[in-house]
Amino acid sequence: MKDVKKDFPLLARHPGLAYLDSACTSLKPAKVIEAEASYYSELGACAGRSSHRLGREASSAVESARENVASFVGAGTEEIVWTRNATEALNIVAYGLDYSKRKKVVTSALEHHAVLLPFMDLRERGIIRLEIAGCDDRGHVSEETWAKAIDRDTALVVTNNGNNTSGVGQCTKNLARITHDSGALICIDGAQGVPHHRTGFRKDNFDFLCFSAHKMLGPTGIGALAMKKEQMARLQPLVRGGGTVKTVSLSRVEPVSDYTRFEAGVQHYSGMIGFAAACEYLKAYGMENVEAHEKALAAGMRKELEAAGAIIHGPIDAQRSALYSFNIKGAKPHDVALMLDREGIAVRSGFFCAQPAMEAMGAKDGAVRASAYIYNDLADIGRLGEAIVKIKGLYG
Ligand code: ALA
Repeated sequence: MKDVKKDFPLLARHPGLAYLDSACTSLKPAKVIEAEASYYSELGACAGRSSHRLGREASSAVESARENVASFVGAGTEEIVWTRNATEALNIVAYGLDYSKRKKVVTSALEHHAVLLPFMDLRERGIIRLEIAGCDDRGHVSEETWAKAIDRDTALVVTNNGNNTSGVGQCTKNLARITHDSGALICIDGAQGVPHHRTGFRKDNFDFLCFSAHKMLGPTGIGALAMKKEQMARLQPLVRGGGTVKTVSLSRVEPVSDYTRFEAGVQHYSGMIGFAAACEYLKAYGMENVEAHEKALAAGMRKELEAAGAIIHGPIDAQRSALYSFNIKGAKPHDVALMLDREGIAVRSGFFCAQPAMEAMGAKDGAVRASAYIYNDLADIGRLGEAIVKIKGLYG
């Protein structure tokens, strides 16, 4: 395992910390922090607007960041729209599509609220029909279930390629093909997949891919929506304003036709530059090494949780990121999280913004979630195991 702890200033500041809450947000390496700060100390100006030197340099930094983030997910540079986060990207897709010809959206119960809520809203307003593919009690949606739900009335299929409650993605190998065979589009919530394994937007034939920088070593408040160029012209923007038009008169607006149509107003330029630095860092580390590292951490986590007698939710054997949700019999998840905090172990507890998913996997009162990333090692996982044994002892 490559030791990169030294790259993360927060870990130097908190030497006793086992940070196991990366599914909520990841830590940032010094290079990302410096890159984000460099915008304010070196550029400072608006991108895509002012023609003075600093304005031109800011524009070129933002466009090179776009190129970098695009290549990280295997998309074309002109297929990337900056967003605040994956949630905003999902909302752009949900509210931007035209449902007049095909009314149905298919998703699963194992999705984040960022997926469910916009489509449930559209359902409530009678704009779409929503079909929620069922799963077994371990949180698995079979390919047959997807295939049965997707038909000629389906406009869109939305699911994740990494789940924030179990670490296991729902996007099956053939889902894009099944979707396209029905003439529908596929949108992937990549918030928890893109940080953990190589995602090929074009190669996997996705139409939309939504992801957030802060889950993959980048800054908060910046994310991206990759969308096929052919979809870009069809989708209506969620926010309208400065920077999105060719000409405006009081009777007529002529919008631009490229990605800037979706980027109204002054944007989070420092975040974009930091996001690109995070992609650079992960590329240098190697996504195959991320996967191998997490595989070892996940195996260690499973061993510790099973040895401690914790109740694990979600798939057990499936390929996953280094993430497990669990409970200790008789203990409330928040109490366990607070006890772990006292031992210097940071985890999240509750429903993780995915209450239907947790309920489907039998965690009706929520759970505790440990999620590791490249700066964790097996010693962190060992400490988690020891602390759980201790806590379990308190509950008999
Ligand atoms: N959705 C994020 C999580 O899983 C915040 O914790």
